[in-house]
Amino acid sequence: MPPKMNPAPDFAVWSRDVQARTEHALAALLPAAAIAPMRLHAAMRYAVLGGGKRVRPMLAFAAGEAVGAAPERVLTVACAVELIHVYSLTHDDLPSMDNDDLRRGKPTCHREYDEATALLVGDALQSLAFEALARPGLHPDAAVQLELLHLLARAAGSRGMAGGQAVDLDSTGKTLELAELEFMHIHKTGALIRAAVLLGALAGDRLDSEAREALERYAKAIGLAFQVMDDVLDAQASTATLGKTAGKDAAQGKATYLTLMSAREARDYARELTDTALAAIAPFGARASRLAELARFVVERSF
Ligand code: IPE
Ligand code: IPE
Ligand code: MG
Ligand code: MG
Ligand code: MG
Repeated sequence: MPPKMNPAPDFAVWSRDVQARTEHALAALLPAAAIAPMRLHAAMRYAVLGGGKRVRPMLAFAAGEAVGAAPERVLTVACAVELIHVYSLTHDDLPSMDNDDLRRGKPTCHREYDEATALLVGDALQSLAFEALARPGLHPDAAVQLELLHLLARAAGSRGMAGGQAVDLDSTGKTLELAELEFMHIHKTGALIRAAVLLGALAGDRLDSEAREALERYAKAIGLAFQVMDDVLDAQASTATLGKTAGKDAAQGKATYLTLMSAREARDYARELTDTALAAIAPFGARASRLAELARFVVERSF
C-alpha cells in the first residue's frame, strides 16, 4: 500500500494557524510594554496585537507555499507587511483623516491613547517593519533581501499606500471617474497586498520572470477586489460584524465603488477580478491552492 499522505488542512484551519504564528511573531518583535517609553510601546502593542484578519500575512504565506519558500523567513516578511498595514490603519483613523472611533472591535489608537501617541505609533511601526526586514542574514542572498526592502518601501510610500491615501483625502466630496477610483484603490490598498504576495514569494529563491508576472497579475486583481469589497461591506455590513464603524464612507462623502455602481454590480466586479486572479496563478497548479482560496475569501468574506 502507498504511504498515507497527510491531507492539507482546510482553509479555516490553515488561516488560524497563520494568524496564530503571526500574532506570536509580532508579539516578539514589538518592544515589551515595560520598556521605556512605556506608553508608546503599550500603544504599539495595543494597535498591532489581538485583532485583524491578517490577510496580508496569509497572502505572504500562500505565495511562499507556491514557490517553496522557507516558512521562518516568510513569517518575518509577513510581519513586516502587517506592521506597515497597522501603521496605515492607525493613521487612517486619525481625526485629520477618517476620524474613526472603532478599529478591530476596540477604540482606535488615538481614542484609547491620544492623537500624538497614535502618530508616533504609526511612525514607529513603520520603522519596526524595516528593522525586521533589514535584519542581517534574513535572506542568504543579500541582493534578494535588498529587493524585499525596496519593494516594501515603494509599496508604503507616495507611489503606493501613502499616495493612495492622499488621493482618497483629495477625492472626498467629489465624484471620481472609474479610472481615478481604480488608481486610488490600487494604491491605497493594492500596493501593500501586492507587497505581501511578492515578498512572500521572494522570501524563497529568485523568481523567474514568468512566475513573477503571474503573481503580479494575481496580486493586482485581488488588491483591487479587496478594496471594492471593503467599500461594499462599509455600506452593507454592521459595525458589530466589521469591528469598525459601518456606513462611514457615505456619511463622509468618500469616493468609493458604490458612488459609481450598485452594491450588486460592485460585488460582480469583485468576482470578475477574482476570476482574473485565479487565471493568473493557474500555471502554478496545486502549489497555488492557498492563493486560490484567498482570492475567493477576498470576495466572499463578510467582514
Ligand atoms: C482594512 O484592511 C483597510 C483596507 C486597506 C481596506 P483589513 O480589512 O485587512 O483590516 P484588518 O487588518 O482585518 O483589520
Ligand atoms: C484605508 O481605506 C486604506 C488604508 C491605507 C488604511 P479605508 O479608509 O476604507 O479603510 P477602513 O474602511 O477605514 O478600514
Ligand atoms: Mg481611509
Ligand atoms: Mg478608514
Ligand atoms: Mg473602508
